[in-house]
Amino acid sequence: MSTIETDRLRLRHWREEDRAPFAAINADPAVMRHFPSVLTRAQSDALVDRIVREWATAGRSFHAVEEKATGRFIGFVGVGGFAPAIPLRGLQVGWRLARDIWGRGYAPEAARATMDDAFADPGLATILSYTVAANAPSLRVMAKLGLARAPELDFEHPELPEGHHLRPHVVHRIGRDVWLAAPAARA
Ligand SMILES: CC(C)(COP(=O)(O)OP(=O)(O)OC[C@H]1O[C@@H](n2cnc3c(N)ncnc32)[C@H](O)[C@@H]1OP(=O)(O)O)[C@@H](O)C(=O)NCCC(=O)NCCS
Repeated sequence: MSTIETDRLRLRHWREEDRAPFAAINADPAVMRHFPSVLTRAQSDALVDRIVREWATAGRSFHAVEEKATGRFIGFVGVGGFAPAIPLRGLQVGWRLARDIWGRGYAPEAARATMDDAFADPGLATILSYTVAANAPSLRVMAKLGLARAPELDFEHPELPEGHHLRPHVVHRIGRDVWLAAPAARA
């Protein structure tokens, strides 16, 4: 994997020293508002392990994101696979950033660069993204990137009980042709 630089961000491989700030992000109830629970340090480390393993086996996963001005690790953004429990196939774009730097457009800036990188592979036809319907910030980032609703792919999270408010998930999608055709349309 090679490092990707954007105007304000460095998208790079994970380092051991990212684990502590990533665990702090995953322990923040505001960041994890649309997830069943915050993560323990062990769960956070297991997620890092899964991402690092995916880089090694699939050659693509979520990048560690560093703010260039400060050198600080601020979370992850990138194009990767799905956790085994998720009933979707192919690749997704996803993001999770520290709360104090929300609202600066970092997630779309990083996502744009990783999607350009992913779609440079002519074999990649589609990138998906999913979230719970109430996650307005995440849906807003999808809209900024030009992803469109794909209601036929919506699903109920299989690890949550029926009736749980976080169970219904909505899916968005963008095809390679649309991505390559309309870069100027992405705000
Ligand atoms: C989703 C997320 C990555 C967006 O990152 P970001 O860098 O703040 O993205 P943007 O700056 O483009 O902001 C996107 C929208 O978030 C909302 N937002 C911005 N700052 C916010 C804040 N401090 N509090 C709540 N919402 C905020 C706004 O609606 C904004 O849209 P706008 O630019 O039209 O005003 C970030 O909110 C996050 O990490 N959320 C928690 C993890 C998560 O839910 N991940 C997705 C799971 S599917």
